[in-house]
Amino acid sequence: MTDTAHGVTQQALDITSRLPRSEKIRLISGKDFWNSEALDSAGIASFMLTDGPHGLRKQAGDADNLGVADSVPATCFPTASALGSTWDMPLLEEVGAALGRESRIEEVGVLLGPGLNIKRHPAGGRSFEYFSEDPYVSGKAAAALVRGIQSEGVGACLKHFAANSQEHRRMSSDSVVDERTLREIYLTGFEIAVKEAQPWTIMCAYNLVNGIHAGEHRELLTDILRDEWGFDGLVMTDWMATFDRPAGVHAGLDLEMPGSHGSWDKRTDAAVESGDLSEGDLDIACARVITLALKVAAERASRPSVDVAAAHDAHHALARKAAATGATLLTNDGILPLAPKGRVALIGAFADKPRFQGGGSANVNPTRLDTVRGTLVERLGADGEVIYAPGYDATTGEATDAQVAEALTAAESADTVVLMVGLPMSYESEGYDRDHLNIPPAHTRLVQALTARHDRVVVVSVGGAPVEMPWADTSNALLQAYLGGQAGGGAITDILVGDVEPGGRLAESIPVAATDLAAHANFGIHDTQVQYRENLYVGYRFHDTFGVPARFAFGYGLGYTTFELGDAKVTGRGKDRTVTVPVTNTGDRPGSTVVQVYVHDVESTLHRPEQELKGYAKVTLEAGQRADAVIELNERAWAVWDVATHDWAVEAGEFEVRVGLSSTDIRATSTVQISSHDTVTPVPAPSSAIATDSEFTALLGRPIPEPAAVFPFHYDSTVTDLQQTAMGRQVRKALLKQVSKTLPMDEEKAGEWAEMLDAVVAGMPIRSLVLVSEGRLSFSALDKLIGTLNATALKTKRG
Ligand code: BGC
Repeated sequence: MTDTAHGVTQQALDITSRLPRSEKIRLISGKDFWNSEALDSAGIASFMLTDGPHGLRKQAGDADNLGVADSVPATCFPTASALGSTWDMPLLEEVGAALGRESRIEEVGVLLGPGLNIKRHPAGGRSFEYFSEDPYVSGKAAAALVRGIQSEGVGACLKHFAANSQEHRRMSSDSVVDERTLREIYLTGFEIAVKEAQPWTIMCAYNLVNGIHAGEHRELLTDILRDEWGFDGLVMTDWMATFDRPAGVHAGLDLEMPGSHGSWDKRTDAAVESGDLSEGDLDIACARVITLALKVAAERASRPSVDVAAAHDAHHALARKAAATGATLLTNDGILPLAPKGRVALIGAFADKPRFQGGGSANVNPTRLDTVRGTLVERLGADGEVIYAPGYDATTGEATDAQVAEALTAAESADTVVLMVGLPMSYESEGYDRDHLNIPPAHTRLVQALTARHDRVVVVSVGGAPVEMPWADTSNALLQAYLGGQAGGGAITDILVGDVEPGGRLAESIPVAATDLAAHANFGIHDTQVQYRENLYVGYRFHDTFGVPARFAFGYGLGYTTFELGDAKVTGRGKDRTVTVPVTNTGDRPGSTVVQVYVHDVESTLHRPEQELKGYAKVTLEAGQRADAVIELNERAWAVWDVATHDWAVEAGEFEVRVGLSSTDIRATSTVQISSHDTVTPVPAPSSAIATDSEFTALLGRPIPEPAAVFPFHYDSTVTDLQQTAMGRQVRKALLKQVSKTLPMDEEKAGEWAEMLDAVVAGMPIRSLVLVSEGRLSFSALDKLIGTLNATALKTKRG
């Protein structure tokens, strides 16, 4: 029986009630890097929680390894930007089930994913790990994956809750965001996934939200997540996110990960003694950990074993299908699909050394790896010839003159050129953001040289996030292949020769230039704070409202057939409406399209984006076939977040229901009248997409907070901040040494990962020293160290 108010079972409560406080405190912190504590006296086993999100990353040892050292082989599925572009919920459920099955094979209790933060700016280092710039698409995709993972008796973990939109100083930066924007943009996806899929767990973000660490944010973790959305699972920290453990428990945080070797125990106990933390809050956190441990054990005991080899074969095939379904065709003058014969010049080192996943904690050790080169040679067989030239170095992205010359020569005798360009590994990773959206200059040079010399050039762009594409119109076709996972190479071949269609539609806008974006003005510029001054105007909400066209619009993508949409009918009463649109495949091949429904508020007393996606349907039809796409709209399709009542409200009046194939390709519009008794607080139109000081103050409903001072040093000062002092520089050196000691790697890997490791260490707050020291450094010793650092820095400053 579950106590639904707290998401705990009576059995867990009974066990908790018999435990001494010290045991309860022990249980709410991990045993080590990846496992929970066991409670032998009550027969409760420890369970493993590990990454995630698009493949299992289970380390053999108990060190972090940040994805660097090899983990057990697992299927690497396409990363979230590709999965988001599929708009295909049944497929994502299948992928989720495969992820769950592989977790089950490895006896993992909770898989750390999916991640569903909103892509506020495409330069965010983890854009590849997130689905979309739109909360509705993000929430639906996450819900489908969660359903799939949990169908195998393994817990999913929504992450990172919330407003975690950049890597720059990710562990200590404060996301300053107004209430309406938080609700309408940054929380809605989590709300959808929680309500529709009931994830077993959720991970709070590293950052602060409006001045409070996400892991201590009672409003987020209890008032909103549990009381309002009905979440009945367990809340865990992100790895080493703990800032103040007792405050976290009070806020609704259950499990600290990884374990902190008892470092917090004394302070937690003291907080209960002093009454700062109630024993009741501690009991609930402990009972939630026990509830989850019992659930993991019960699920494991009730499942049949899996044939590992057969599962890996099937999952590889599924990964190939998912990669093709997420690959998005951006231009095509008819050159694609290619006839599977003739001479193809395949240019670009990514064809042979694929870029198929992103860097950091999501890095998977794949069970096998397809390349475009290998699969294309096999597919063409005796009917064709593949002339391969790397053109550039796969790791650095740089090219020598000889490599470029070799590529041009290869192209000369070819019927068709397929050129692979994109983002090398070092360009995108957890730990740091990109500071521009360009592909390496050598890649641009190849596009220019080859399109100038050859009249049949297909460009395949690889990478987890948008890049600027000033060259987009110069080739005959352009395919955005994203990071397709271990079978991505095969999927690209399938698409090139037309064995399958490119099924993707962009779940994010591809801007002309990063500097166009409203979020750009406040992206990664402050050391301790991010001001979300663009408020609601992220992605297409920005482009469509302020008339700044993207190069490729949200929702856009071509297939190998064509579709026509008939007149849309909107039926139903009140706030629940059904949109029915006849869709006809007018081409001569089977294919799919995504029918998208945007809502535009015709007259509103508060400023709203020009239109917002409120529903969609992926439709697959045979050549010539016709079917109805049916999309349900409910109250939330018309609602805004009203800051006066702190609630959703619908303003009565006329709304346009726009049906289209992208945010800029609207094919049918119907007008509906919605009645409502709600009142909404007026919000005037802003002077531009970036709020001025007075507009931002009004949006926040309080003065714009001053960014936290870096000096005097405190728990959240980062390793970078300490660089000001000689002692701080030593701390950084020691940390890097410690990190490399725990990460056995060969020279090539060390080179590839150096930037990521350096960035991760640089962004670490000094409180992490206690955790990294594995209990050798106590918090009292840290307090003393900070005191000394401050005194030394002060002396240097004065001197
Ligand atoms: C990441 C999480 C990840 C965790 C464990 C953190 O640094 O932010 O997404 O699940 O590490 O590897």
